Amino acid sequence: MALRLTFAALAAVLQIVNGHFTFVRLKADGEWKEPLQYIRNKTSPYDEWKYVDSNFLYRYYNWPTYYVDRPESVRCGRGNMDHANATEVLKVRAGDTIEIAQHRGDPSEWTEDDFKNCPDNRGTCYHKEGWNMDFNHPGPLVVHLSKVPEGQDIHTYDGTGDWVKIHSRGLANTKDRPLNWELYRADPPHLEFKIPPQTPAGKYLMRMDVVWSGLTNQYIKIGEPGSLAQMYPSCAHLDIQSDSRAPFPAGVKIPDIFAPEAPGMVTSSEMANRLQLDANYTYPGGPLWDGEKFIEDKPV
Ligand SMILES: *[C@@H]1O[C@H](CO)[C@@H](O)[C@H](O)[C@H]1NC(C)=O
Ligand SMILES: *[C@@H]1O[C@H](CO)[C@@H](O)[C@H](O)[C@H]1NC(C)=O
Ligand SMILES: *[C@@H]1O[C@H](CO)[C@@H](O)[C@H](O)[C@H]1NC(C)=O
Repeated sequence: MALRLTFAALAAVLQIVNGHFTFVRLKADGEWKEPLQYIRNKTSPYDEWKYVDSNFLYRYYNWPTYYVDRPESVRCGRGNMDHANATEVLKVRAGDTIEIAQHRGDPSEWTEDDFKNCPDNRGTCYHKEGWNMDFNHPGPLVVHLSKVPEGQDIHTYDGTGDWVKIHSRGLANTKDRPLNWELYRADPPHLEFKIPPQTPAGKYLMRMDVVWSGLTNQYIKIGEPGSLAQMYPSCAHLDIQSDSRAPFPAGVKIPDIFAPEAPGMVTSSEMANRLQLDANYTYPGGPLWDGEKFIEDKPV
């Protein structure tokens, strides 16, 4: 179940390079864009080791990111700043619907078929050896926007400004047992959401992540039991056109909002085992902006 950061777990994970996922594709204006078009790529394998020595020494493309990793890895994915300059900017309008799609394979294994004629007009599909393009963790999708600060260029903006959550998708309801995470199934839903119509014009990073909560708020070391939350962030470049005169609200900072002490980042083992919902559980990543105000982002 929960990943124990022991040498045994490391050995097990090494065998499943494809075990997890990354958001790699966007649909806008009703059209799927090319894989990784408008999305900052990541560096793989990547060495987090210099930053913290209590974790995997290096990571592959779809491996988890932890709060204790380099802050830029938590913001927009490992090595994203080295790919920012080469990433195009997608023009969208405030109020537009966007869909995002994930891939569980390493880019070296991607084939054209993974992105073409996918059933049900999905952005990705994978037919190899029983791997569906699913999510293998119970946890919520969280999507944030960060407005590129005045005077900065989106190609060099590092996401140290504010982040505003514009979308989340977690439990279908609070009553099902086992807990019914909407993404955690062989055939996850289409991941569609709207850019809030009140979003003012400007360039934005859009961060996409599915957070698998951890079991402890300790910064665990190799050999200690427990787990930290796993994250799978990547960021798109958006140029949002808008008639809205409303200011973009102040938001949260990353990585701070994903610290183990922050809401939604640590859950009980009962909740991790999908037996019951923790009292006062809220989705991670801060409150949700509905376009006018912030609302507490919790399952209903
Ligand atoms: C993205 O990065 C991966 C791993 O770092 C690399 O294999 C792949 O070729 C890159 N793709 C693009 C489109 O740059
Ligand atoms: C970014 O890309 C531009 C245009 O391709 C290039 O002129 C510039 O040197 C690049 N900057 C960095 C920091 O790589
Ligand atoms: C839930 O949160 C409320 C408000 O912060 C607090 O008063 C209450 O004690 C909390 N309940 C539990 C079970 O943590």
